[in-house]
Amino acid sequence: MNPTDPRDRRPQRIAMLPGDGIGKDVTAEAVKVIETAAEAFGLPLVLEHLAWDADRYLATGETLPAGALEDFRDNWSAVFIGAYGDPRVPDMKHAADILLGIRFGLDLYINLRPIKLLDARLCPLKERRDVDVDIVVFRENTEGAYVNIGGNFKRGTADEIAVQDEIHTRKGVERIVRAAFEYAVAHGRREVLMSDKSNVMRYGHDLWQRCFREVAAEYPQIEARHMFVDALAMQMVLHPEKLDVIVTNNMFGDIITDLGAALQGGLGVAASANLHPGRTSMFEPVHGSAPKYAGTGRANPVGAVLSSALMLDTLGHAEAARSIEEAVADSLRQGQTTPDLGGSLTTSQVGDLLAAAVARASQATAVTRRAGR
Ligand code: NAD
Ligand code: IPM
Ligand code: MN
Repeated sequence: MNPTDPRDRRPQRIAMLPGDGIGKDVTAEAVKVIETAAEAFGLPLVLEHLAWDADRYLATGETLPAGALEDFRDNWSAVFIGAYGDPRVPDMKHAADILLGIRFGLDLYINLRPIKLLDARLCPLKERRDVDVDIVVFRENTEGAYVNIGGNFKRGTADEIAVQDEIHTRKGVERIVRAAFEYAVAHGRREVLMSDKSNVMRYGHDLWQRCFREVAAEYPQIEARHMFVDALAMQMVLHPEKLDVIVTNNMFGDIITDLGAALQGGLGVAASANLHPGRTSMFEPVHGSAPKYAGTGRANPVGAVLSSALMLDTLGHAEAARSIEEAVADSLRQGQTTPDLGGSLTTSQVGDLLAAAVARASQATAVTRRAGR
C-alpha cells in the first residue's frame, strides 16, 4: 500500500513498538497525544501494540517475527518505536534485529533528524536565539558502517585480526543526496551541506564526492557545500546558525545527531523519521532506552511526541502535526518539562498537558472554520 496517498481512505494502521526501558514510558505518552489528535482532527488512525521487548526475547528467543516485514510493508501505514536496549541483552541482539531489521528490511533509506531549538534557554551554547539552531540532517540509513560485514580471524589470540567493512553504493548515496536536495527545494531551504571524511576514506567517500557534485548540479537554486565531518562537529558548536540541510553517511549521521540533540536541549527532545517515500515508514525518538530512568517518571516524552508529529505529517495529517509541534513548543517555553530540562513534571504529566493542548487547538481551529475565517 502507499500510506501517503490521500485518495486511500482506508484506516491507517500504526504498529506501536514501545521496546524497552524508557521506550515504554515515552510511547505511552505518544499514544495519548496521537489518540487525542486522531479524535480531535478526525484522523483514520488505528494504533495496535506489539510487545516485542527484551522480556519476550529472553523468554522465547524471538526477535522480529517471521513475515513481520512483509506484513508491515503490505498492511500497515507506519511503525512507531520507543527505544530498544536492555542490560540483560549485552549484544543488543533483539534491538539489532528489530530496529535495524526494520530500517534495512523496509529499505528506509532516509533517516530524517531535525535539529530545531524550540526555546533558546534549552541551548547549552552561550547567547543563542532559538532561530540560530534550525538544521535538518539527512542520514543515510541502509548501508555504510551498519551493514555488519566483516569478521574476526584468530579470535581471542594475540594475533587476532578484526575486519569491519563499510559499504557505499552508487544507488544508496545518490538517493539520500537527492532526498536532501528535494527536501531543500520543498521547504525553502538555502543550502545542502555534504559531510564525509574523503581525505582519509578514499574509496567510499570519493563516491560520495562524485554523487554529491552530480546531484547538486541538478539543483542550481540550492547552494551545495562540503565539509569534513571533524570540522562539521566543531561548526555545529561554534556556528550552528550557518548550517541548514546536512546530508551524510550512516555512522556520521548517528554521531552528529546526538551532538545536534544536545543543541536542542538534549536527547529527550530529539525526533526522527525513517523514510522511503510512498512506503510504510518508521518513526522513533533519537534517544535510547536509558534503563536507569525506566519507570521513574523522569523520561522526557517530547522526542517521542515530536516523532509522532513527523509520523502524522508523513501520513498526510499536516494540521494535526503542526498542532502537536506547537503544543510542545508552548510547553517548553512555559517550563512545563521533565527534570532533564529543568522542570519538575513527570513523564505522564507532560503527556497529559500536551494532549490537552492538542485538543484545545483543534477546538479553536473548528471555531475559526465555523466562523468562516
Ligand atoms: P540513551 O539515549 O538511552 O541515554 C543516554 C542519557 O541521555 C540518559 O542516561 C539520560 O541522561 C539521557 N536521556 C536519553 N533519553 C532521555 C529522555 N527521554 N529523557 C530524559 N533523559 C534522557 O543512551 P545510552 O545510555 O547510550 O543507551 C542505553 C541503551 O539504549 C543501550 O542499550 C543502547 O544501545 C540503546 N539505544 C537505543 C536506541 C534506539 O532504540 N533507537 C538509540 C540509542 C541507544
Ligand atoms: C540511533 C541509535 C541506533 C543507531 C543504535 C541503537 C543501533 O544510536 O538510532 O541513533 O546507531 O542508529
Ligand atoms: Mn544514535
